Amino acid sequence: MPVFFSTLIDIFIYLYMDKFFINGGNKLFGEIKMDCAKNAVLPILAGSILVEGVVCLKDVPIYKDVLSMIEILKNLGADVKWVGKNLYIDSFNICKNEISHQLASPVRSSIFTLGPILSRLGKAKVAYPGGCNIGLRPIDIHLFGLRELGCNINEKNGYIYAQKSKRKANAVSLRFPSVGATENIMMFACLFDGETKIYNPAKEPEIVDLAKFLNKCGAKIKGAGSDLIVINGVKKLNGVDYKPIYDRIECGTFLIAGAMTGGEIVLKNCNYNHNQVLIEKLKKSGCKIFCDKNKIALKSSKNLASYGTVETEVYPGFPTDLQSQMVSLATICKGTSFIFENLFESRFNFVGELIKMGCDIKCKSSVCIVNGKNKIFGADVVATDLRGGASLILAGLVAEGYTTISNIELVDRGYFAIENKLSTLGADIKRI
Ligand code: UD1
Repeated sequence: MPVFFSTLIDIFIYLYMDKFFINGGNKLFGEIKMDCAKNAVLPILAGSILVEGVVCLKDVPIYKDVLSMIEILKNLGADVKWVGKNLYIDSFNICKNEISHQLASPVRSSIFTLGPILSRLGKAKVAYPGGCNIGLRPIDIHLFGLRELGCNINEKNGYIYAQKSKRKANAVSLRFPSVGATENIMMFACLFDGETKIYNPAKEPEIVDLAKFLNKCGAKIKGAGSDLIVINGVKKLNGVDYKPIYDRIECGTFLIAGAMTGGEIVLKNCNYNHNQVLIEKLKKSGCKIFCDKNKIALKSSKNLASYGTVETEVYPGFPTDLQSQMVSLATICKGTSFIFENLFESRFNFVGELIKMGCDIKCKSSVCIVNGKNKIFGADVVATDLRGGASLILAGLVAEGYTTISNIELVDRGYFAIENKLSTLGADIKRI
């Protein structure tokens, strides 16, 4: 169990306090460390299904989504335990190939287990995944890829029934570089006899990290992060110790918090390359940013200006997971900012809550037009999704007066004890 908590009861009490209370107006100052990336840990947990041995993941934060994935792995027959901050997964005895609706629905990454279960056990019955309510989020590309390789797949009553069969093709060409589909197909192919090529794969740093983890276990994956991934099937994967990459979205969220509060912060455990497009936008707004090895230092400006336009794209473009936070930033930058969401159909649900705080925002289908104001005000607001919830916290930090944010279990899905890190930097925020 992570050292932050002394008993399991502590974790439950903590996770069931479901509101943040923020007294806005404090500047953020100081230095903090970023955690491992949720979006790296989740597919690696799915990947550990392929491993006949013990995987030790180092320094894993208790994201709520990680807890959901642990339940799924345990239900399949894996032995999973925390020792301090490290998570041990022993998948040797995995024997069950079914994931119920109840287990699959809290988390999008439940679908990442489809490829690994099929690969390891030959058959799978997996319920449709859940996750944040930010759009339709179909899984057709996942299923297309597995079918192309020869799997028989039927969809019935909310479940995907899949069976491994003889290889049909050596290459899969994705119509869109979906992160989850790339991960699913890559994991399936690790133990599939022969060579598999994935054309037009996603190139996100978390894909590269998953390939690095699987290769450390003995897989043969080349090209992750490029336009073509080539996987040569091996007979077996072995247990390893592994430390997932740091969270570029957490890093981005804190950089925006530093900028919005007029602060001066240093973030440790960051990769500058993973946040380059965000950094360019923050500089355009007037922040000074210095990067050194694994540190990013930000000094904000008294007169933040509009960063112009942000358009979400697949990596290395602007990440959709930082879109909501950029809307918050725009609400206090002088001038008009335009935010285009190109990946998910309904990722502006949080905007109505920002409007309750006095923000001037207009939304038209996939674009949000924000006129910056000198002041926004505290209000009682509700988190609508993980990153939308983060954007409300950012607004609360600079709002005049008090803000309460409810539904924060959505924020806990992908930020670990965010209020503690913000308090360390001087914010007046607590969980109630
Ligand atoms: C992952 C991340 C999520 C991030 C997203 C995009 C995890 C656990 N989640 O989600 O935080 O916002 O990447 O960077 O890693 N699509 C289809 N068919 C499919 C799959 C996807 O049409 O079969 C579409 C989606 O509807 C969406 C787009 O492709 O419009 C991107 O989705 P995808 O890259 O698959 O995101 P996720 O893997 O779900």
